Amino acid sequence: MIFFILYVVTGLFINNHDTNYSGRDQIARPVRHEDVTNPVRKGVIGMNKDLISLLKARKASRAFSSQPLNEEIISRLMNAIQLSASCFNNQPWRYIFLTDNDLLEKARKALTPGNSWALKAPLLVIGYSRREFDCQIKDGRDYYLFDLGMATQLLLLQATELNLVARPMAGYSVSELRQGLEIPDIYDIYIVVAVGYEGDVNELNEKDKQRSLADRTRNPLEVNFTLNTVKWP
Ligand SMILES: Cc1cc2nc3c(=O)[nH]c(=O)nc-3n(C[C@H](O)[C@H](O)[C@H](O)COP(=O)(O)O)c2cc1C
Repeated sequence: MIFFILYVVTGLFINNHDTNYSGRDQIARPVRHEDVTNPVRKGVIGMNKDLISLLKARKASRAFSSQPLNEEIISRLMNAIQLSASCFNNQPWRYIFLTDNDLLEKARKALTPGNSWALKAPLLVIGYSRREFDCQIKDGRDYYLFDLGMATQLLLLQATELNLVARPMAGYSVSELRQGLEIPDIYDIYIVVAVGYEGDVNELNEKDKQRSLADRTRNPLEVNFTLNTVKWP
């Protein structure tokens, strides 16, 4: 009985608000289940788009406005990511959200010339993780990068729902990023996502403008899917 009372009382003091991510090394505290499962009921997210419309609306534009993003937006992006599924609920994703100009400059220097469109973005999100943070299956499968990718997809979708542009990039120098942001070797830096309000495509160079205006293309379904067949093409 005494344990039950303690359990209930301590439960009342568990952080009932959105997790605070201001410090890199802060000790993780679990968020109460109801917080992360009922964002709609809490009125945090306005569900005004059906899913397929949201997926279609995800912007591939490289045109960014430099208008800064406020803390509410940053918090919504973080909280959306945090809802991702992960192996054994290990939540192996780690992200550095950069809005500070000096730090942004360091990250921008690491981008390849082909990603110069991202220099205007007011937010760069660096996604990284570590093998040991997630499931390591005996037959050799590691899940940390899979789960980092799953979580990053939620960043893109939440950004879209907030009428932002979010474009992931693999085009950067890991060593420059590591050095500039002092990210230890033990972490694998796997993605940089540029996030911001959509800018004017006419300000892009001609190549990026044409790419940004082009229709999104996808394979016919039969390339990527089979239904009830184990025959190989
Ligand atoms: C892992 C990954 C790396 C990417 N790297 C870059 C990049 O360095 N530069 C870039 O402009 N786009 C990059 N992209 C964006 C893709 O080119 C884009 O998602 C793809 O062309 C499909 O277009 P869509 O996102 O508009 O559907 C990357 C996307 C992913 C998922």
